[in-house]
Amino acid sequence: MANERASVLHSWCVQSAWDAPTVVGGAGARLQLADGRSILDMSSLAECSNLGHQHPRLVAAIREQAERLCFVSNAWGAEPRAALAERLLELSGFEGGRVFFTLGGADANEHAVKIVRQASNRPQGIVIARERSYHGATHLAMALSGDTRNRAPADADAMGVSHVAPPYAYRCPFGSRNAQVCGERAAAAVSTRIDAFGAEQVVAVLVEPNAGTNGIVAPDSYWPALRRATSERGVWLIADEVMSAFGRCGEWFAWQRHGASARPDVITLAKGLTGAALPLGAVVLNAEISSRLEHRMLYTGLTYCGHPLSCAAGLAALDAYRDEQLIERSRTLGASLIGELQRLQSHHRVIGDVRGGHGLFAVVELVLDRDTREPLAPWPQTPPALKALVDAAMAEGVSFATRGNLILLAPPLVIGEDELADALALLDRLLARFFPNGHAQGGVARSN
Ligand SMILES: Cc1ncc(COP(=O)(O)O)c(C=O)c1O
Repeated sequence: MANERASVLHSWCVQSAWDAPTVVGGAGARLQLADGRSILDMSSLAECSNLGHQHPRLVAAIREQAERLCFVSNAWGAEPRAALAERLLELSGFEGGRVFFTLGGADANEHAVKIVRQASNRPQGIVIARERSYHGATHLAMALSGDTRNRAPADADAMGVSHVAPPYAYRCPFGSRNAQVCGERAAAAVSTRIDAFGAEQVVAVLVEPNAGTNGIVAPDSYWPALRRATSERGVWLIADEVMSAFGRCGEWFAWQRHGASARPDVITLAKGLTGAALPLGAVVLNAEISSRLEHRMLYTGLTYCGHPLSCAAGLAALDAYRDEQLIERSRTLGASLIGELQRLQSHHRVIGDVRGGHGLFAVVELVLDRDTREPLAPWPQTPPALKALVDAAMAEGVSFATRGNLILLAPPLVIGEDELADALALLDRLLARFFPNGHAQGGVARSN
């Protein structure tokens, strides 16, 4: 078998250190490896395979569409493209809006910015984003991301992006130990930044509404306050729901937990949109922004914009979420996931915080000292003992995702209850093995 280690450039890693097994198939929450092992996937790969692996409905829809029409460019109409756009507008309540299809999440965010700048007649208009956020790895998406890895390659100032501190309640940059107060202050910081530039200079605020792969879960106070602050100032609010949509946070779109009054002006989507079976992203625009574009040339295009195969996969994915009640399932299993993690926190002192659980997305933050909240390793380094824990879990057939001191739990929404319980029991055992000094009685600290 060809070994891609020598021939492929791999993402977000040191090339010489890449050494991953080859996946040849999968079913449900499990991946099948070339060496015959079956691995329980506790991260939905890149938090994207919300429907699990090889979902039969997706495979059938892609096959059927391929037999009818593989591709037609965006200069022509395509039935699955039209149907998917209508479904997305309906699900998000964006009546009278429009959808621009992209190939993934980064270009969805790039296009969201490009489109709102055009619609506002401010091609250099400022976009406010957040420190410690991730919006993708194309150039503007890197500038939008408040990620330490991006500082050198992408000059945010030059691209009109300004970052504010995040609603990171466990280590609140605004000096509060109360999660809701921290959320309110984080939203107020956005208002202050808009006012400092002058609202007429700022086109949009682009943030993840609830949760991100950076491990921040916004307190409930944050998003509604941000919506009010941006509306009052006439600044558009863009929700990057690339990771948080399609059940991941217990709703079709994470902002929906806060009701219709919390609806953003633009939503960016990818990942769960097709259950990751094919690449597809989307920028969902409200009626006001869409109407401003109605009689103007749109200065953008992607050859594969609204690819029929991907849109057919998107339609099948939406049907599967609805018919298998996976959004509700994620909410229920998310509640038991966070409950179990809190139980682990009560007897592993190395766990400083657990957060999330609105759906099947939760974060475990490891600390050296629970009282001082001193991190186990300086962000964004991953402590060696956590790396060892992940390797040991793989050896036992479970794949966990980590980032810095964080364990990110985001299994497919179709994961069996017994599989979830087994994975958490393994995590319990491995925490005791790799952090024996953290295996003691102690108080529970939870930020949201
Ligand atoms: C919130 C968020 N936005 C954007 C992206 C980028 O998406 P893609 O990798 O499809 O370009 C990601 C990917 O992890 C993400 O989590």
